[in-house]
Amino acid sequence: MHSIAVVNQKGGVGKTTVALGIAEAASASGLRVLVVDLDPQANASSGLGVWNVTPSIDDVMSEAKAGAAISAICKSKWPSDGPQPDLIPGSHLLANREPLLASDPVGAQDRLKLALAGVAHDLIVIDCPPSLGLLSINGLFAADSAVIVTEPAAWAADGVDLMHSTVERVAGRLGTPELSGIVINRVGRTKDNRFWCEQMEDRFGGLLLPQIHLRAAIAEASGQSTALRSLGKRPGAQEAILQFDSLWLELSRQIRDGKRNSDHLATMQTSVPSTIDD
Ligand SMILES: Nc1ncnc2c1ncn2[C@@H]1O[C@H](COP(=O)(O)OP(=O)(O)O)[C@@H](O)[C@H]1O
Ligand SMILES: [Mg+2]
Repeated sequence: MHSIAVVNQKGGVGKTTVALGIAEAASASGLRVLVVDLDPQANASSGLGVWNVTPSIDDVMSEAKAGAAISAICKSKWPSDGPQPDLIPGSHLLANREPLLASDPVGAQDRLKLALAGVAHDLIVIDCPPSLGLLSINGLFAADSAVIVTEPAAWAADGVDLMHSTVERVAGRLGTPELSGIVINRVGRTKDNRFWCEQMEDRFGGLLLPQIHLRAAIAEASGQSTALRSLGKRPGAQEAILQFDSLWLELSRQIRDGKRNSDHLATMQTSVPSTIDD
């Protein structure tokens, strides 16, 4: 089993989208995948077609109990002819859980890690909330590796630095998570996007993972609570599938080899292409 936390303290950069894209790609490759919706907005659950289900992640986080997550696992509602990751459903009640967690002197940071003990899935993808609070910290404590999602925009790199140092602080105590790298998401074909992608390349170089382009098909899949593979011949869907597959290929290579290989990453294509479908 391997667990990946998808993080950034900023909202709207594509954490949930990338978490579900990784889950879809890994599921399609034959792995048993569990998505943990750790954001009170519960967008990962909506994206998987699941609303207001109990027990939820809030119930899981309500007590410090080994294996508490297992009884909260439910099936996604993605079409049965495609990939179907399992889910620990989100809940807006989680917003009230964070201050309560802070009053636990022993288990404030590792309650999720404890709860996931004994989960038998091959891959756990933890979709973290847009904050550096205790929920995200629980996500990092429970993760073997972390993926930072960002976008090609002004000041985004500063946010990535902050998240990177948080990942390193946790890893300094636990030994994990290892930073898998940084995904630039919503890459469009504007000059501005190209400029900020170049800035990211200068600043983060070998830490950059395969990027994800801005495509209507991606927003459509999440809006329809379905997998990209279920969009049929929708323009851009196939390209989006290929990009998430490349991202998952790199992440799975890192998991297999046990480490990030900067030389390998440096040779990967990370620049903005001249054309982007739809
Ligand atoms: N690559 C992309 N192409 C098109 N739309 C995207 C892309 N990534 C994210 N979106 C859309 O942007 C919005 C915010 O993405 P989301 O994954 O919810 O961000 P976060 O989880 O960081 O808050 C959603 O409506 C989503 O569908
Ligand atoms: Mg989200």
